[in-house]
Amino acid sequence: MAFSLQVVFVVSALLIFSLLDPTQGDTSSGSFIHSRAAYYPNSDEKGSETGRCGYGSFGAIINYGDVAAASDLYRDGVGCGACYQVKCTNVKDCSDKGVTVVITDQGSSDRTDFIMSKKAFRKMAQNEDAASYLLSQGIVDIEYRRVSCSYPNYNITIKIDESSDYPYYLAFVIWYQQGQKDITAVQLCETKNFNCKLLDRSYGSVFTTSSPPRGSLSLRMLLSDEDGDEKWVVPVNSIPENWKKGDVYDTGVQVEE
Ligand SMILES: *[C@@H]1O[C@H](CO)[C@@H](O)[C@H](O)[C@H]1NC(C)=O
Repeated sequence: MAFSLQVVFVVSALLIFSLLDPTQGDTSSGSFIHSRAAYYPNSDEKGSETGRCGYGSFGAIINYGDVAAASDLYRDGVGCGACYQVKCTNVKDCSDKGVTVVITDQGSSDRTDFIMSKKAFRKMAQNEDAASYLLSQGIVDIEYRRVSCSYPNYNITIKIDESSDYPYYLAFVIWYQQGQKDITAVQLCETKNFNCKLLDRSYGSVFTTSSPPRGSLSLRMLLSDEDGDEKWVVPVNSIPENWKKGDVYDTGVQVEE
């Protein structure tokens, strides 16, 4: 299997597609919002392998299993991959820091914003006894805020979905979404002539297109924040011409903010 991780010169494209992005300060300075959180009863340690974000078994191991299903924050799949700091609020049992979870699924319990993996739920506690107490509560009061996702050892990564049918139908999921912005649109471009096609978000972090562009493909992701700032990110690595289902491609991109 040839990984032709070919470097594409995208300077002109970057100039065309990127908007000036004001430098931001602390990216996790948002204020906390009060809510409630539950945990997956049958997630012994990790998250779900069948989450609505389309991550598959990867959804159980990302962020070392500190993951959660979101209800409203799922936002039709746009919320997949977003990171939240979640702290329970009972001062006797809860730590100040709480835990940072990645959204990998959709779901709600009784007026909850998060259903967390048991592992993540436990991490909100000050110690083991407090963790057992929190688990016995089932649902706890929390406060949460969006924070930046950081995977220093991984670039944003594309996994070609098993439902793909080369060269007629392409489906892939985006792993290791970084920073604090949403991926609100994805384009695939023929690297030869920049003939681009906007993809459909099929569900969660899964993007699809029938009759994908041919040749080696360059991906573009539109990152948007809640203030409406938008920026196209163009990975240095392209998806090779002979992409195959199951293949995993490193885009070569780290997103900081
Ligand atoms: C991320 O991509 C860069 C190229 O942009 C590469 O040098 C680096 O090795 C990649 N990191 C990982 C962890 O694969």
